[in-house]
Amino acid sequence: EADPPLRLTPLQKLTVDMCKDEKTIKELIIGRRVGFYKVRGEIGYGTFSRVKLAFHALTRDKVALKILDRMRLDAQAQRLLSREISSMESLQHPNVVRLYEVVETPSRLYLVLEYAGGGDLHNRICNEGKLSDSISKITFAQVLSAIKYMHNINIIHRDLKAENVLFTISGCVKVADFGFSTRVSNCNNALDTFCGSPPYAAPELFRDDCYLGPPVDIWAMGVLLFFMVTGTMPFRAETMGKLRRCIMECSYTVPPWVPGPCQRLIKGILKAAPSERYAVDQMLGCDWLLPVEFPWALVPPEPASPPQSPGS
Ligand code: ADE
Repeated sequence: EADPPLRLTPLQKLTVDMCKDEKTIKELIIGRRVGFYKVRGEIGYGTFSRVKLAFHALTRDKVALKILDRMRLDAQAQRLLSREISSMESLQHPNVVRLYEVVETPSRLYLVLEYAGGGDLHNRICNEGKLSDSISKITFAQVLSAIKYMHNINIIHRDLKAENVLFTISGCVKVADFGFSTRVSNCNNALDTFCGSPPYAAPELFRDDCYLGPPVDIWAMGVLLFFMVTGTMPFRAETMGKLRRCIMECSYTVPPWVPGPCQRLIKGILKAAPSERYAVDQMLGCDWLLPVEFPWALVPPEPASPPQSPGS
């Protein structure tokens, strides 16, 4: 594919003038770029997006570049998304993927995200089987602290699943896609515009009187916890209809070998009525998590400062 014509901003011009390293200048000018980032191979994809690995052309910092095609979003979704994205840039939590910056072109939106290079929880469990009790605790506690932070500022994930729980190389948990899923897809309509992944969907998502609040995320955390400690999903069926019935009837069985305190936590979360479901603080105080100190004290967070552009 031909490279797009080079149009440098005044800052980029200044940087190129200042930069004595010819190879870097060449890389800035030749090759696929988004802003200051050199784009590499695809590392993931979603309903509305693709994710590519990218490097800052000068600092070499790795980032994940989430690419959204404007064509696939209606005008309302685009407006909401742009607004949402700018507020996401101020979000900072050690267990939430940081949004460093947004690059906009007429046809695309590029989200420059913190890179989590340790894979995702779904692949990890598929490849290695269930997590040990202690790893489950540390992982779950970090997801929980991310959810607590976001719920406190009224952001609901609505697409929490093992695929969105990423790890850094050092094993720190980073929840991805926070805040976008609610805006990109229309969750207030019936199930034909179903947001999120059906096996993680709370019973209220299948009802007409749907109240799609924070308990939707709490339910998904119950599914996630079940998946982590057993290596299997609590609700499985060959058809969507059967899955829906399973979830609405809240019919699942926790294997008897799961430690008692963890069983109690799962049963406190996976309750059909949102009002009866554990709240975040009840989860934080449960017996199973009691031995876990503050998660980011156990796994030191990595510095989450955005890659710096020279001269900024
Ligand atoms: N896939 C999707 N988002 C990602 C991220 N932030 N880091 C690594 N891989 C990803």
